[in-house]
Amino acid sequence: MRVYDSREELPVDFRDLLRHADEAAARAYAEYSHFQVGAAILMNNGMVVTGANQENAVYPCGLCAERVAAFAASSAYPEVPFNMIAVTAINPVEPLREPVAPCGSCRQVLFEYEQKFGHPIEVLLAGQQGPVYHLQSVATLLPYTFHAGFLPK
Ligand code: THU
Repeated sequence: MRVYDSREELPVDFRDLLRHADEAAARAYAEYSHFQVGAAILMNNGMVVTGANQENAVYPCGLCAERVAAFAASSAYPEVPFNMIAVTAINPVEPLREPVAPCGSCRQVLFEYEQKFGHPIEVLLAGQQGPVYHLQSVATLLPYTFHAGFLPK
């Protein structure tokens, strides 16, 4: 993992993808937690697909930004690998000073697409301020992973 001390230090293409994630976070439907998360996936065809968390009065029905983005991307472009996902969040009470950490379910979902295409998905994690983490693959976020190879053939 590479740690950038701030967004200003990022290469311009990383900063651009993070800007898409910022814009998605601003569109979150976070009626209950008020924690707005945005994800932006750079596809291998150059398209960017975004997602924001969607909450629900029946709390477990909601979905994280990363999965909203991943499912939208895979639905729109089922044969196109994901190159990178940028994730960020807005805490309206006090600015988030550390990178947001994707939940276990989102790591598992992203890992599925990494495996499907045999193509690493780089991960860029940011808060509103402070450091940005750049990881080479989803696998690095999910050791000893359950994968399709365990299932009956
Ligand atoms: N959330 C995400 O969308 N992504 C994450 O990486 C962490 C958590 C959402 C789920 C819920 O809507 C809110 O943030 C609080 O957990």
